[in-house]
Amino acid sequence: MPQLNFTLTDGSAVSVSCAVGETVMNAATLNGVPGVEAVCGGFCSCATCHVYVDDAWIEKLPPPSGDENEMLDGTAADRLPGSRLSCQLKVTAELDGLSVRMPPTQA
Ligand code: FES
Repeated sequence: MPQLNFTLTDGSAVSVSCAVGETVMNAATLNGVPGVEAVCGGFCSCATCHVYVDDAWIEKLPPPSGDENEMLDGTAADRLPGSRLSCQLKVTAELDGLSVRMPPTQA
């Protein structure tokens, strides 16, 4: 199973295994990784699952959809080049080792 690496707001790191086809948001919430709220449950309508994808991985992800792009303009923390909504990131075998950082706030 692909491994996902999360850097938390306190700087600590957490790695979890995730099934292919699962979303990064589900991988975080199901494993109790703090920092993703996911208030809407993954329907791309709350922006509280915001993460910063590490630079090395940005180009390996499909670009955000129009809806995701619009929601990213309303994140509580600054939108950065690596900003994505983790509920819109489906894990593939190629994303084994994906690293994301939690933003300082989701609300
Ligand atoms: S969980 Fe609400 S936008 Fe991702």
